[in-house]
Amino acid sequence: MFEKIRSLIFKFDPETAHDLAIKALKTKLLPVKVKNYESLRVKFLEKEIPNPIGIAAGFDKNAEIYNPLFKLGFGFVEVGTITPEPQYGNPKPRVFRLEEDEALINRLGFNNIGSEKASHNINSNTPTGLLGINIGPNKDTKNMIEDYIKCFKTLNHLGDYITINISSPNTENLRSFHNPKDLEELLNILNEEKKKINSNINIAVKIAPDIRNKDLDVIGDILLKNKVKFVIISNTSDGTRENLKNVNKFEKGGLSGKPIEQKSNLLIKEFFKIFNNKIKIIGVGGVDSGKSAYEKFISGASYIQLYTGMVYKGPNIVNKISDELNDFLSSDGVKNIEEIIGSK
Ligand SMILES: Cc1cc2nc3c(=O)[nH]c(=O)nc-3n(C[C@H](O)[C@H](O)[C@H](O)COP(=O)(O)O)c2cc1C
Repeated sequence: MFEKIRSLIFKFDPETAHDLAIKALKTKLLPVKVKNYESLRVKFLEKEIPNPIGIAAGFDKNAEIYNPLFKLGFGFVEVGTITPEPQYGNPKPRVFRLEEDEALINRLGFNNIGSEKASHNINSNTPTGLLGINIGPNKDTKNMIEDYIKCFKTLNHLGDYITINISSPNTENLRSFHNPKDLEELLNILNEEKKKINSNINIAVKIAPDIRNKDLDVIGDILLKNKVKFVIISNTSDGTRENLKNVNKFEKGGLSGKPIEQKSNLLIKEFFKIFNNKIKIIGVGGVDSGKSAYEKFISGASYIQLYTGMVYKGPNIVNKISDELNDFLSSDGVKNIEEIIGSK
């Protein structure tokens, strides 16, 4: 069904198509019948979720459609990135499809309605599933750490976990938080704030795919020391693009989808090897099928997320991945997906 209407949807520019998707989800009319498999039911923090497949940050930037996304079958939803103040983001066009490469490039630049309005959205619409809230600084801020803290204060009580996004390539200097000293300072201040306001919320840190394997060691140690619960590997890439086919390949922005899959898997494998599940990994990058999801789990991810896969494969993607994953597991005689984490 989706294959038939995809060429029609792809006649719109990607951002318009996304806005239409949001409108469609708000009408709650999407005819997806969700399948549940015992083999995919997992624990996430203190909750049981129907499957470990989440929608990645950026799809529901303003926390408007997380409940319809649960209805599509997603086991968890991460909203955001939300900044303290509302901001427009970069000038349009700022999202590009690379069809031959099954990829996207975006330079949206944290367009969102700001933390006050987002908190109002969540407050007035109780999440029906497990919710992550992804936060970041405004583009024109004088102090990025203060921005994270402002957002944290407004939003920490509304989700099941808060993601500290240090990895968007579209906010200048954001990725400098991959430097040990800067990361340490950010997490120290965040933990002080948590103490001050008596918050027990779990923290995830989302990292870039463009770091060197050897940096994972140091970054992971800092996360561990600061009691970070999850690492999200990874955000979009600003790496080399010579090998891509589509004419849009040199557009400025972050690359997502199939071309970043291997990069993300390698980092997941390395991180799992070093930290052996002491920090749980949420694996992201190029997931669009049962096989690609399976690769992430055996590389070491406890949970996965996707964005670009939904653009190319449509709203039934969770069912499709669930069917295929369940088949893999039963043909291997595995009862639950948790048994295969890091088994590669
Ligand atoms: C259009 C678009 C917007 C995104 N916006 C955000 C964002 O606001 N915050 C964030 O942490 N990641 C954002 N991402 C990154 C995704 O969450 C994900 O990490 C990345 O796209 C890799 O996954 P994928 O290959 O399944 O798309 C965005 C990705 C896309 C394609």
